[in-house]
Amino acid sequence: MTIIKNICCIGAGYVGGPTCAVIAYKCPDIKVTIVDVNPTRIAAWNSNKLPIYEPGLDKVVFERRNKNLFFSTNVDEAIQQADLIFVSVNTPTKKSGIGAGRAADLAYVESATRRIAQVAKSSKIVVEKSTVPCRTAQSMRTILEANATKEIHFDILSNPEFLAEGTAIQDLLTPDRVLIGALQTPEGMKAQQALADIYMHWVPKDKVITTNLWSSELSKLAANAMLAQRISSVNALSAICEATGADVDEVAYACGRDSRLGSKFLKASVGFGGSCFQKDILNLVYLSEELNLPEVASYWHQVVVMNEYQKKRFVRNIIRTLFNTITNKKIAVFGFAFKKDTGDTRESAAITLIKDFIQEQAHVAIYDPKVDDEQILMDLSDSGGVVDTRPQVEKHVQICRSAYEAAQDADCVVIVTEWDEFRDDRLDYGKIYAGMHKPAFLFDGRLLVNESKLRKMGFKVNIIGKTELAGTA
Ligand code: UDX
Ligand code: ADP
Repeated sequence: MTIIKNICCIGAGYVGGPTCAVIAYKCPDIKVTIVDVNPTRIAAWNSNKLPIYEPGLDKVVFERRNKNLFFSTNVDEAIQQADLIFVSVNTPTKKSGIGAGRAADLAYVESATRRIAQVAKSSKIVVEKSTVPCRTAQSMRTILEANATKEIHFDILSNPEFLAEGTAIQDLLTPDRVLIGALQTPEGMKAQQALADIYMHWVPKDKVITTNLWSSELSKLAANAMLAQRISSVNALSAICEATGADVDEVAYACGRDSRLGSKFLKASVGFGGSCFQKDILNLVYLSEELNLPEVASYWHQVVVMNEYQKKRFVRNIIRTLFNTITNKKIAVFGFAFKKDTGDTRESAAITLIKDFIQEQAHVAIYDPKVDDEQILMDLSDSGGVVDTRPQVEKHVQICRSAYEAAQDADCVVIVTEWDEFRDDRLDYGKIYAGMHKPAFLFDGRLLVNESKLRKMGFKVNIIGKTELAGTA
């Protein structure tokens, strides 16, 4: 029986940071060291202002930091001391070369694996935590085994993380399941049990699922693809609702009451964002193409196509409603993060929308409670090419300290992120209306506000998946 006493996590990001902080919190007998090549990030983890915003994270980190939880840039030392190493580095979509725009860029996983192979002085269990294409574990094994000796042995596990941002700590404390894949050899299964024992400090045994390596890797991609598919399905229905007078909330509720469907992940929106959904589906598409399964590839690809369509449809609707032009008009954007309760902006629908508004020469006033000004400017200036669009962005964008400031003298308000503070029982929409140009338009991309309440105030309200036709014969 292998007992883990010392854990190293390579990568102090949105996945590695919270996951290993919770392990330290729940397993005071285990020393956990989270390392990263980025010294600014590590300094922030060691400061009072953590580098990521996540409800409940501060408490967990502050309680265990410098007791059995450490943040460091000394990657080699942490590797050497560890019995078990989580690889939690980033795996973005490749920007160039073979598979560009679809395949995952595994350069960071490979470099972390090579580092382990190079500096390890004793046997290790190496755990693939980052979401990766199927069979990545095999590549990691090849690299590690090529460097193994009689004395040093490596076991590879796949332990994908299912936490969602904004609820990460809750998801980690009470997960639906923990998935651990291993080679079905005696050593592989021993390593699998050692990792399962860590989780079983707080996760009930029946929630720890053990599978073979490839099932584990594919399950993570599959879960994300199916979740994203539900959103694209309800978003496709939202377009039909707007054209017919059906109400997408009512349709989602009626469908979700079927216990076979379930009610979660049926909220129509301006489009899903986040670092995982699009990347993982594109990964699945690439894998299917590689396996010569073009019909399977195009089936999953449609989920991303529908998401792009939803964002473009929302923008077109805004322009059409504002009398076919938004040139020189002021658009107040409420929210920039890809969902509420996070400061993360990766693949946020706000980026696509605002870039389109700028193209149309509108003035955009943005307010988000958690996203830094510089992050907003960087995201909007990232043209993916050589052109420097920053001056153009700065000319058209104003970053505000409150929703009221953003909406002052605006022609329309666009709700992009469903932050609670934008709800109509929290924000004084009467005050917002009073400060706006008339007619004052409001576009709700999150089904957040009560349309009849806001219509009574005087707003021209436009909600995704709803129309004024609703309720008419
Ligand atoms: C997702 C998965 O949920 C998680 O299991 C995995 O580990 C990582 O990817 P995350 O991207 O952090 O997590 O957040 P999630 O809550 O899934 O939301 C993703 C996007 O879908 C957000 O933009 C959200 O606003 C949107 N969404 C979600 C909807 O538009 N409608 C819904 O009903 C649910
Ligand atoms: P995720 O959302 O998957 O956690 P992030 O980008 O938030 O992704 O975090 C990944 C972290 O991994 C980054 O902070 C990055 O600096 C770090 N990283 C990448 N490669 C290495 C490496 N070889 N060694 C240590 N840290 C690494």
